[in-house]
Amino acid sequence: MLAKLEDIIRRSGARVRETADFTVRDKGTRENLVTSADVDNERFLKRELLSLIPGSVFKGEEGDDVPVASEGYTWIVDPIDGTTNFSRGIPEIGISVGLLRDGEPFMGAVYNPYTGNLYSAEKGKGARKNGAPIHVSDRPMEDCILCTAWCAYHKEFAPGCFRVSERMHPICNDIRRIGTAAIELCMLAEGAVDIYFEIRLCPWDFAAASVILSEAGGCMISMEGPVDYDHACTVIAANREDNLETLAKVVREEFGGKTPYDFRS
Ligand code: IPD
Ligand code: CA
Ligand code: CA
Repeated sequence: MLAKLEDIIRRSGARVRETADFTVRDKGTRENLVTSADVDNERFLKRELLSLIPGSVFKGEEGDDVPVASEGYTWIVDPIDGTTNFSRGIPEIGISVGLLRDGEPFMGAVYNPYTGNLYSAEKGKGARKNGAPIHVSDRPMEDCILCTAWCAYHKEFAPGCFRVSERMHPICNDIRRIGTAAIELCMLAEGAVDIYFEIRLCPWDFAAASVILSEAGGCMISMEGPVDYDHACTVIAANREDNLETLAKVVREEFGGKTPYDFRS
């Protein structure tokens, strides 16, 4: 099934890459965009994935947000993660397809059609990039690169995010903001970057990457417990448990001990 999923996501990527004209509109705030390519690609993926597993549930960002099924299979799809990048011709995007089985993460694939990089994993079978096994780094905090963002779509959370950056910057190597959570989490899985924090991600941003990351030996939590595949939540991830704890402690302190429920929508 993973090979079939990889084939579908590659074909969907070719369609996105070859899109010459697209329209752009915002989704409530001027920073949060959707293009006609996002909508077209979600439609394409929905058709292909539902025919790959008949009877499965399809949860997607652009109009298909339904609850995760507690039994059977649920796809969780972001047709373009990094829509702002896409809309400006910045070649950093991820097409993200996660699959849950009985509500638990089971399989994931993330594809950047501009670089051709395809990250994929199935629970218990390891993580791969373009077919080759990948693993998180073993860097200590002082050598870690943090990927993060300052909550462009909900700027009321930005001051806390900046405080987290301010506290992390002196104790780690450096900070990156690439503009696609799915790809950033896969870069953590392959050992290119080492720690990750966003105060509010949606399940389609991290579902696929969560399988890839855990199969690559990394760890991911929300503010006080596991990430939530049905609602927006905080995502904290790392190469090692000790780095996860250090980052999580800073996040908890700067956000006054609020739980992920405070950031739900
Ligand atoms: C966004 C990207 C971005 C992250 C945002 C996400 P979108 O997804 O992953 O890097 O900072 O939190 O919402 O809107 O481009 O699909
Ligand atoms: Ca996204
Ligand atoms: Ca998206």
